[in-house]
Amino acid sequence: MSKWYCLNCSDEQERDSRPDSCSVCGSDAKLMINREDVALPGTPEDVRDIARKRLKGLCAAYPFCDGGFDKVCQKEAYGKPIGFGGAGQGRSFAANYASLMNIRLKMRVVGDHIEPDTSTEFLGMKLDFPVMGASTAGIEKYNDAMPERDFCRAVVRGCRDAGTIGWRGDTWFYTPDDNPALDVLKDENLKKDIDGTALPGRGIAIFKPRSQDVLKRLITLAEEAGCPAVGLDLDGCGSTIMARHGQPVFRKSINDLTELVRFTSLPFITKGIMSVEDALACADAGASVISVSNHGGRVLDSTPGVAEVLPEIASALKGRVFITADGGIRTGYDVLKMIALGADAVLLGRDVIRAAVGAGALGVKIHMEHIKKVFKKAMFMTGQNSVKGIDGSILC
Ligand SMILES: Cc1cc2nc3c(=O)[nH]c(=O)nc-3n(C[C@H](O)[C@H](O)[C@H](O)COP(=O)(O)O)c2cc1C
Repeated sequence: MSKWYCLNCSDEQERDSRPDSCSVCGSDAKLMINREDVALPGTPEDVRDIARKRLKGLCAAYPFCDGGFDKVCQKEAYGKPIGFGGAGQGRSFAANYASLMNIRLKMRVVGDHIEPDTSTEFLGMKLDFPVMGASTAGIEKYNDAMPERDFCRAVVRGCRDAGTIGWRGDTWFYTPDDNPALDVLKDENLKKDIDGTALPGRGIAIFKPRSQDVLKRLITLAEEAGCPAVGLDLDGCGSTIMARHGQPVFRKSINDLTELVRFTSLPFITKGIMSVEDALACADAGASVISVSNHGGRVLDSTPGVAEVLPEIASALKGRVFITADGGIRTGYDVLKMIALGADAVLLGRDVIRAAVGAGALGVKIHMEHIKKVFKKAMFMTGQNSVKGIDGSILC
């Protein structure tokens, strides 16, 4: 008999041979490890080593995930499906990374001793640190890395176990009738505690900008799935693969957005905002969250980096809406920089995918906890007590 451990739900079962799936959460055999043969991954590097093998040819889990042309995602994907890379020559992807590299932190070590409080609040929910799992989708199609539902579960659970929230994405093989993200969100968000009390919803659905009618159906399903918020990645309007699979996407007008904001009782997130004009339009339409993002550089080549446009958007809207930023954030130091530039919280995309592919929910938890640890250290070394108090004065 061997002990088989599920990386997504931590259940351990005694079996003679590898189970086909976890009997508790249903995760695939890929997420089951024999603890007598293999040690559980314990560090982000352990997790990335496994992801590197599983994503061979698509992503080498480099120490510098910078969108450079020397990286497998860019050089081998040029002219081919986008994989893990950026659109075109990857200039927007590279700009995200470079714009953060160009910002420096002012070290402040003289003053009272402090124990930084990394916690914050997002739409009335407490986060242990201002970092969430970005909306991503389609991982099942990458080297058959893991079934899509297991991926979604890994992100939502891993984020929750680390004290934060996982957003879920949308792609061409998700439909209102067969939707891996919504299935998992329903399962995870409506979970009851052992004593029967409902646990707070911890997974958010972000949909592609489909037709208004389809979106209303999806939003209703997200409400039924206990999501604490719902939104659109407006920059997904350029996707051609959605239309090719009979699921067309559209640019959205202020009227379209207002209609959706009024349709739902949930706070509304608009993701993929890279200009003050769009940000103000979304706020005017009633969005609660403006998500400053260029989709990790995957939708339009040659945009500025997110860290370059964030300050202007934040100065126009800080305090009126919740502002998130994502793109090229790889470390707790980067998190601090984005908060100092005006974000209320940030999202991690590729790193959370790699963590989920490497070791399911456990991998995501390990990665997120590491980010939190480094963020806390960065706060300490720049003399910051609380997330709310962080501002541009710590940058140089
Ligand atoms: C493989 C992949 C799939 C993605 N899928 C989605 C999606 O379905 N919806 C969405 O809003 N954004 C999607 N994104 C963009 C992320 O939410 C996020 O904006 C981006 O990854 C942040 O940049 P980073 O990867 O450098 O952290 C995807 C990104 C990647 C790399």
